Amino acid sequence: MQVTISSGNNINGTLVLPLFEGEEALPEIVEGIPTTLKSQVNRVLADGDFKAKANATLTLVGTEGGKAMLVGLGTTDKADAHAYREAGATVVASCKKVHGSEMTVVFHDADLACMTSFAEGMMLRDYSYDLYKKKDEDDETTALSARINCNEGDATALSAAIDRAASIVSGVHLSRDLGNCPPNDMYPMAFAQKAELWAEQYENVSVQVIDYEEAKRKGMGGLVAVGMGSSRKPCMVIFTLNGDQKGQHPMLVGKGITFDTGGISLKPGANMDEMKYDMGGSATVFGTMEALASSGYPHKVVGITCMAENMPAANAQRPGDVITTLSGKTIEVLNTDAEGRLVLSDGLWKAGTDYDPEYIVDFATLTGACVVALGHEATGLWSNDDDFRTRIHEAGNDVGELAWPMPLLPAFEKEMTDSKIADTRNLGAGRYGGANTAAAFLKQFVPNRSDDDDAEQITWAHMDIAGTYWGAKTNKMVGYGATGIHVRTMVRLITGE
Ligand code: BES
Ligand code: ZN
Ligand code: ZN
Repeated sequence: MQVTISSGNNINGTLVLPLFEGEEALPEIVEGIPTTLKSQVNRVLADGDFKAKANATLTLVGTEGGKAMLVGLGTTDKADAHAYREAGATVVASCKKVHGSEMTVVFHDADLACMTSFAEGMMLRDYSYDLYKKKDEDDETTALSARINCNEGDATALSAAIDRAASIVSGVHLSRDLGNCPPNDMYPMAFAQKAELWAEQYENVSVQVIDYEEAKRKGMGGLVAVGMGSSRKPCMVIFTLNGDQKGQHPMLVGKGITFDTGGISLKPGANMDEMKYDMGGSATVFGTMEALASSGYPHKVVGITCMAENMPAANAQRPGDVITTLSGKTIEVLNTDAEGRLVLSDGLWKAGTDYDPEYIVDFATLTGACVVALGHEATGLWSNDDDFRTRIHEAGNDVGELAWPMPLLPAFEKEMTDSKIADTRNLGAGRYGGANTAAAFLKQFVPNRSDDDDAEQITWAHMDIAGTYWGAKTNKMVGYGATGIHVRTMVRLITGE
């Protein structure tokens, strides 16, 4: 969707009017609306036929003054940037043929941040995944375009803010495209090829692919064990933005299981198709790199994605196997369906040993237990540093993507390290607390800052997006499918904007 700024009063296409609950007439300052349309709006408001409750819409047609869509922001005290973002998304979600493909938004009493949020909501919600649908020849759906009218003095700043939002949205939509892609076309090396192709457009981005043979040579036992049972072999894809810069930098790590059958510990058949989203963590990393690169972020950021397909096969790993990971630590594989933590063990170790991260954040559709705990409403968030965990929680709140603090207790670590025959086990001892034991397992593979005995562990956070990467029906930015969650959280955390 193209969003442009205009400091004039002209209205192209359908007028979009965001309104506050309780307004009985349009304020006099609202200019440029044809008289007939304005009086129809005022009549609707005066009669109480549109109360402007948050995310309510009403379409007016049939006046000489053109068409309008009224959208509610709720009461003024609650109409913050989040309410504006949702209202913008609601407008796009409610758009029908009758509204046409052009819209002009006329705000009153909105600051720049709120206007930007509204535009961001419109752009975020303007997404469909129809690559695999036959196009009807007479179906001439044209792309939506929106114009935002603002004061002359605000035009330059608003235009820059909306351009930046558009770049970030391109990262969210890339993540969604990757997540929605069917698993016959989205396999580890396909992801790698998409990354290489994507990187060609940026001079300050590089992509390195560690293929199956190299992963074996390097000792990436977790990645290899999970991926070896598939004919589409595993790989690790490393994204580097502004790699020539020295010093510490943020580091992102993603779980990228392009299809999770469970392996020999086979999953039940119902809804197994959803396991194509099991690469949502890697899609988050890739999408964040796009958002940062396209918005011109000037500092260094590195992303590692651990890609594998988890299949049952004659050459697949078995429950009972003991594998040796890149860290040298061994894992007793008690359930091959707990595979995300195996590939991440190598990704986290590499992140902390081959680079000098200020912090590491990993993203993973890791456990069904996290969905049991938090539903589709919030991501589970664990960290070895309380202040860092709070920073992520707050970055998520700032952009409307909830990440809820979860405990990283010593008892959970103990549970995951008490294998009789290996350093760690990939399954908890009982059925409870599965999201927490998974996080405690990952912590075993986060390196210390140095080899000194008293060295601190690298600042690390784990985000379990099993419930929030898809199926999030209350997420107003998303119609269906992959959500692209946490690209915006990460941009906020990393850039501070
Ligand atoms: N990919 C799944 C987790 C998952 C489940 C994501 C439901 C989204 C929705 C993961 O690999 C898995 O299967 N985890 C197991 C772990 C268990 C065997 C310890 C689970 O959650 O049941
Ligand atoms: Zn699994
Ligand atoms: Zn999985």
